[in-house]
Formats: sequence, C-alpha cells, structure tokens
Amino acid sequence: MIKNSQWGSLFYLEMTELCYYISFTFGKTIVMYQTLLAAIENGICTITINRPDKLNALNKKVMEEISAAVDEVYNNTEIKAAIITGAGSKSFVAGADISEFIGLSVEEGKELAKMGQDIFFKIENSPKPIIACVNGFALGGGCEMAMACHFRIASSNAKFGQPEVNLGLIPGYGGTQRLTQLIGKGRAIELMISGNMIDASTALQYGLVNYAVPQEELLHKASTILQTIISKAPLAVTKCIAAANAVFDETKNGYAFEVDAFGECFGTADKAEGTAAFLEKRKANFTGE
Ligand code: COA
Repeated sequence: MIKNSQWGSLFYLEMTELCYYISFTFGKTIVMYQTLLAAIENGICTITINRPDKLNALNKKVMEEISAAVDEVYNNTEIKAAIITGAGSKSFVAGADISEFIGLSVEEGKELAKMGQDIFFKIENSPKPIIACVNGFALGGGCEMAMACHFRIASSNAKFGQPEVNLGLIPGYGGTQRLTQLIGKGRAIELMISGNMIDASTALQYGLVNYAVPQEELLHKASTILQTIISKAPLAVTKCIAAANAVFDETKNGYAFEVDAFGECFGTADKAEGTAAFLEKRKANFTGE
C-alpha cells in the first residue's frame, strides 16, 4: 500500500479482478494494471501502454487490459474523455507482439484478428472521446489502435506504418479499412504494400493526424483540446461521434441516423440549457441529461 507518496496522501485503495485503484486527496486517481498505467485527472483518463522495453508491443495481456481500461472509460462517470499513449519517448506501440504469432494456425490467426478488431471497435464506438497521443513508433497494431481513436495528435518524432508485409502478413486489427478511410485508397495501398513508414509531418499532410507537436507538448496539447470538448454538451458530443462513425457503417444510413440524433437532442436538458444560456448571454452548465 502506498502512503504519502510523491503523488500526495492516500485516500483509498480498491482492488478488482484486473486492476486496483489508488485515489489521492488532491483529486487524481491512478488505476494500476500489469501492462498499463491509467490516471484520471480533471475528467480525463490517460491510459499509457507500459512495455517500453518491447516498444509497447501489444501482447495478449496488453490487449485484455486495454479492453478493460476502455470499459472503464465507458462506465466510470468520473471519466469524461480519454487519451491513449505509450510509455517512454521512442514508441507509441510498435505493433502486435510478433513473438505471439509463432505456431498460430489459420483459425487462430482469424480469432486473433477478430479479438483485435472487437477491442478497437470498442474504442471507435466509445460514447466519450478517446484520442491517441502518438509519441513515437505507431506501427502495425499501434497504427491500427491510433486509427481506432477519434483523432490523433503526433509528436514530431512519430513514425506511422503498416509493415505487416515484411512478416508475410496483412494488417488484421482494422488497419486495411481505417487507413483507407483516413488517407484514401492510393496512399493506403502504397503504405501497406511497401511497408514504408511515414513521419509526423507527412501524417499531418495526409490527414492521418490532426496536429504534430514537439514531444514535450504532446499531452498538454491533448488535454487542452479535451478540456474544451468536455465543457460541451456530453450527449451531443456522443451523437457527433456516432454520426461520423455511421458514415463507415454499411448497416446504417448516416443521414437517417443524423435526423434521429438531431431530433433526440431536442428531448435533452442539455439542449434546453445550451439554448437558454446563449439567449441569456451566459456560459452553459451542461449535465449530460
Ligand atoms: N513485437 C514484439 N517485440 C517487439 C516488437 C513487436 N512488434 N517491436 C519491437 N519489439 C522488441 C524488439 O524485439 C526488441 O526486444 P529485445 O530488446 O528483447 O530484442 C525491443 O522491442 C526493441 O526493439 P528493437 O528492434 O531493438 O528497436 P529498434 O530501434 O532497432 O527498431 C523498430 C525499432 C520499431 C523499427 C523495430 O523494433 C521493428 O521493426 N519492430 C517491429 C514492427 C512491426 O513489424 N510491427 C508490426 C507487427 S504485426
């Protein structure tokens, strides 16, 4: 048990099956996993993949814990938005853990891809914004995880790529689809079949990231943007994300989805508050109801 550490005085410690929580008197909660660090502060949960000696490669345990951490983002009312990043200054995530590919059968390969896709769909469909802070290599599954986030900010040393062809593989965690959605077919095919990496400024030019900033500014930039976002009407934010996702969901008609979602906003307390605040020339106080 940690007491009066550098973080402040211990407030409480709670254990669950996968992780434990340490809350401190000054309002920061640290959630401890085996392969992740998660800290909740001012409504933002920063999830850090913590295997820097393996460039934060995604092994089975990391994937299981990312899934649990995203569940926490969905369910914990203290969390309004999240950031996913990697530990250390070299790598965001250098891909799926290649050592776990040895000896997999065709069926096991399919199961692995399905598992990865399901977890990344959960990130993509999160009702709360999740953004990637890409602090170095974002290769293979790392690029795929960043692309599943709602948008991406890169540090100037970031490198993006889908190098699976070097291993006799293809992207399996949604990369063939999301890369094509985000940067267009020609650029996506070139990246996938060459295995080449692109740097942060090229990623910015391609629209793969929204910003490229010096590494020391990366988390601050993300927090500043997220603080703006979490001051807006939460249900409207959720509906914007879902409507944008509907563009790429063949089971949904995006325009019909928008009509319904727009209409539903008129039944919310936040719409009443937002419009009243505008007319009364004051700041809106949204409750997410
Ligand atoms: N899976 C498992 N381990 C990985 C990994 C991955 N995707 N990427 C890096 N690592 C490990 C290395 O094996 C090495 O471990 P070791 O110190 O025990 O030998 C450690 O991380 C550091 O990597 P290293 O290759 O020594 O660093 P580098 O600076 O020379 O090269 C990369 C960096 C990213 C170019 C190189 O690690 C690489 O090509 N990684 C694989 C990228 C990839 O193909 N990803 C898609 C997987 S589907």
